[in-house]
Amino acid sequence: AAPVDPEISKQQHILQDTADLFHHILMNTEKGQTALDYLHKRGLTDDTIEAFQLGYAPEERNLLVAFLNNRKVDYQDQRASGLFVEDQEGKLFDRFNDRVMFPLTDSHGQVIGFSGRILSKDKTQAKYLNSPETKLFNKRDVLFNLHRAKADFGRDGGPILFEGYMDVIAAYQAGVKTGIASMGTSLTTEQVDIISHLSKRLTVCYDGDEPGQKAIERAVAMLADHPRLQTDVVVLPDGMDPDEFIRARGAEAFQAQVKSVLTPTAFILQFLARGVDMNNDQAKLTYLNAALKTIGKISNPVARAVYVKQLADTTGVPESALNQSLPAPQQAV
Ligand code: GTP
Ligand code: MN
Ligand code: MN
Ligand code: MN
Ligand code: MN
Repeated sequence: AAPVDPEISKQQHILQDTADLFHHILMNTEKGQTALDYLHKRGLTDDTIEAFQLGYAPEERNLLVAFLNNRKVDYQDQRASGLFVEDQEGKLFDRFNDRVMFPLTDSHGQVIGFSGRILSKDKTQAKYLNSPETKLFNKRDVLFNLHRAKADFGRDGGPILFEGYMDVIAAYQAGVKTGIASMGTSLTTEQVDIISHLSKRLTVCYDGDEPGQKAIERAVAMLADHPRLQTDVVVLPDGMDPDEFIRARGAEAFQAQVKSVLTPTAFILQFLARGVDMNNDQAKLTYLNAALKTIGKISNPVARAVYVKQLADTTGVPESALNQSLPAPQQAV
């Protein structure tokens, strides 16, 4: 094994001790009670909270400073941990205040940072606050829950990519254990690379709302023509996110929903058609042009025929006319 960088090993200890402290405060103290009630109200069981080692960072701004001072962690190491904000004199204050804490881990389960969800409805503050980039935490590389999920990638069709931590956790509790999440809605090339080395297939299941659907479109465009990774898409109804879907419809319905996948092309055709009035000729023509362009990118003639048929069904335009307007298949190189 490579020699361990002492800086990294020190940081790992600080972050793990902090995760343990936040978890202890949530589970066993008066201070954590409101946050624990909040998580219970959101439907999480204590087993699930344990599995993800969720925690609570209290309101005070010098709890963690005191805790680490007590453990003889020196100033520079505290500063490098990303757990603090600094005033003009360089004095450190706890970065996370009154937040539910989600430990973020690397692919081995080592804590590398945190995301904290606000409890109050104060709209002037970010809903989720993340650790800043540190020596350990490079958010472009992080996939929430990867170290637990990857053990099951070989079963049940591989990883499912969600938008949010709460979606991954709710899915886990509903028996779907292969959920992972990027940090927000933008998937990075680094994350795609990591996934593609662990699985041949990825299912994208973002929120059913407009931003979520747009994010699927971006993800699908990025994953198109990936040499090793096949992409599928799950669309959730009524603007719900996975967590809301599970709360509304239950675990079994969710398990069925994530198996009911669309190909990227089928998703794009559906996405382009949203809000289009097929009785309005101009709108319909605009849709047809975009849809034909999408289908034209496919080289497999059977797949082309399948989507042309679908397009004929949604628009009432005969397949023969659609085929005449379809761009020629791109030559495989
Ligand atoms: P809940 O409201 O707790 O259910 O969260 P959610 O996951 O449904 O949140 P949402 O769909 O709004 O956002 C999806 C993901 O985007 C979150 O899990 C975060 O990773 C990220 N995100 C959301 N809000 C913020 C924010 O204010 N700041 C940052 N940095 N990330 C955010
Ligand atoms: Mn515990
Ligand atoms: Mn969203
Ligand atoms: Mn959401
Ligand atoms: Mn949500």
